[in-house]
Amino acid sequence: MADTTLMDKLVSLAKRRGFVFQSSEIYGGLGSVWDYGPLGVELKKNVKDRWWRAMVHARDDIEGLDAAILMHPRVWEASGHVAGFTDPLVDCKTCKARFRADKLEDARCPQKPSKKPGEHTACELTEPRLFNLMFKTFMGPVEEQAATIFLRPETAQGIYVNYQNVLNASRQKVPFGIAQIGKAFRNEITPGNFIFRTREFEQMEMQFFVEPGTDMEWFEFWKAERLEWHKSLGLAPDRLNYHQHAGTELAHYARAAFDIEFDFGGSLGFQEIEGIHNRGDFDLSRHQEYSGKRLEYVDQAANKRYIPFVVETAAGPNRTLLALLVNAYREEKVEGEDEGRVVLGFHPSLAPIKAGVFPLVKKDGMPEFADKLAKDLRKSFPVFYDESAAIGRRYRRQDEVGTPFCLTVDGQTLQDGTVTLRDRDTLKQERVAADRVGEIIKERIAL
Ligand code: GAP
Repeated sequence: MADTTLMDKLVSLAKRRGFVFQSSEIYGGLGSVWDYGPLGVELKKNVKDRWWRAMVHARDDIEGLDAAILMHPRVWEASGHVAGFTDPLVDCKTCKARFRADKLEDARCPQKPSKKPGEHTACELTEPRLFNLMFKTFMGPVEEQAATIFLRPETAQGIYVNYQNVLNASRQKVPFGIAQIGKAFRNEITPGNFIFRTREFEQMEMQFFVEPGTDMEWFEFWKAERLEWHKSLGLAPDRLNYHQHAGTELAHYARAAFDIEFDFGGSLGFQEIEGIHNRGDFDLSRHQEYSGKRLEYVDQAANKRYIPFVVETAAGPNRTLLALLVNAYREEKVEGEDEGRVVLGFHPSLAPIKAGVFPLVKKDGMPEFADKLAKDLRKSFPVFYDESAAIGRRYRRQDEVGTPFCLTVDGQTLQDGTVTLRDRDTLKQERVAADRVGEIIKERIAL
């Protein structure tokens, strides 16, 4: 686990405030599967919206797609996943724990955590055997070999098999891209670190189809572009870096690959949050071979035919969300107050709730005014109305979930129609007209 205390605090806050819950908790939980609560689902949706806006809406050379999770089983033979999407697995006959043979260095012996698996005298590790990470299921009523299909381990293949459909339907020309957000499943041997590595997760992938020979230029373009996107979410630039894949680290399809890494702190340290891959013509050539359908691109103007090369950008909203929590969490002393505060300093565009609306006291028409204001603002963005407890407590509750603005209706409101607007980070309060506050917040959120 990363910085144990920080990760423990985040797991606890995430549960208490409704960001992330353990799956099937009342049955004792399901290993490394997590559910997103009322605030978590908003935060994740905001991440996905930001990605979709940057990758699809803001460009005229990328189209969106939503391919099904279930695909023809031959897809996974063509893609190389049936033969090669494996991790080497070792079992300990003594404690029955399982480890990735290539990650023993990072693992701990469950019986003697100061040692690595295999180092304790009681350890009895088996020889490594290859374990395929794809989940299998059956299509139709008969559970037989011929009916076996897989839950997709990546969204990318849904894009490759639709490459010609999108090309024909959209009238795009190479170079162009197809983007998709969707679920993926991997039966990971050693999942963990909260939502960092899970068995069910989402991906935000874009496949950019280019003329062979221009691929490394596009690869560099997307590598730079994607790093800037992570910075635009508010992730601290000094916590982001590139990691180049070399030699055996390269996936079976990759000619070149870089990870964008985020520093999660503690022993987890810098870890991949997105992969940028030059996949060459591997995928389209294989699908052409296995399907028997021609997948060449015909460039009529230049009188050329070729199988396009693919530059892929592959990110995960769950992992981005964990990076955002780690990046945003801070504990602070507040001047003049005994109690400190916990703040999730999210970029306002990502915050699950944009404004808290409070009547200072529960009388003199303040609740009615505040309730009406909250209802008006809800037409534009998510708002939380709160009239319980002291005003300071109400501010703290919103700080802890990252709400960037709080509006308080007080005695003066009833005389001149102004409310106080409090900024989560500076703690400054200003008086603004209640009928203007929606516009002011929208500007500051930079939606
Ligand atoms: N199509 C290429 C591909 O799938 P990947 O590096 O295996 O590449 C891309 O995955 C991204 O998907 C990762 O950077 C990560 O954000 C996310 N991801 C992969 N496995 C994950 C897991 N087990 N749990 C959570 N996110 C995962």
